[in-house]
Amino acid sequence: MNKRILWAVVFVSAVAVGMLFSGQSHAEYGDIVLDRKMDSMKKANVKPVVFPHWFHRIRFKCKVCHEDIFIIKKGANDINMQAIMEGKFCGRCHNGLTAWEPLYCDRCHSYEGK
Ligand code: HEC
Ligand code: HEC
Ligand code: HEC
Repeated sequence: MNKRILWAVVFVSAVAVGMLFSGQSHAEYGDIVLDRKMDSMKKANVKPVVFPHWFHRIRFKCKVCHEDIFIIKKGANDINMQAIMEGKFCGRCHNGLTAWEPLYCDRCHSYEGK
């Protein structure tokens, strides 16, 4: 094996190991916290949303989401639950067909920071 291939293998393994440990629910590298609706979420007693970008990026092409579903800028999307329930935004896939339905609040509303 030449050096470049060796480094590629080391790098890919490191990423794979990183992914093994990335299943927790607190925000980490590659996660995007969605908290524009902080006030309403507080009232409803749910935490801000953690969107695991990498988890989705490795499963879908960028253009599946950008820009048909999400503007490619943090905080630029005005998302609410009614829209999700109607099959918009996250609900385009979290509809019980492509992915689980938006009934399990804590799976998305999982931000453990302040
Ligand atoms: C499943 C949907 C989905 C896929 C697939 C996806 N993204 Fe995103 N992306 C999002 C969401 C949601 C946000 C957050 C937008 C917000 O904060 O309102 C985002 C945000 C971003 C941002 C802005 C981050 C920032 O800090 O401003 C960039 C850049 C980005 N995506 C690039 C990509 C690239 C490149 C790919 C493909 C490799 C990709 N995305 C695939 C959903 C997706
Ligand atoms: C293009 C389709 C698509 C969109 C859009 C999408 N998701 Fe997902 N998401 C999936 C799929 C597929 C899974 C895996 C489902 C499974 O394992 O059964 C998933 C899984 C997840 C998980 C669990 C990740 C894990 O570690 O198991 C979370 C959390 C999540 N999505 C949040 C969101 C949020 C929040 C949004 C909107 C900002 C969103 N998703 C938009 C397709 C999508
Ligand atoms: C698939 C992911 C997902 C699931 C599951 C989910 N939400 Fe949300 N929710 C979001 C996203 C994304 C936002 C927008 C957050 C922001 O931008 O501040 C949001 C926003 C909200 C808001 C504030 C906006 C509004 O519509 O009033 C409330 C309240 C809320 N969710 C409650 C809930 C409850 C209760 C559940 C369970 C029945 C739930 N959510 C399940 C992703 C999800």
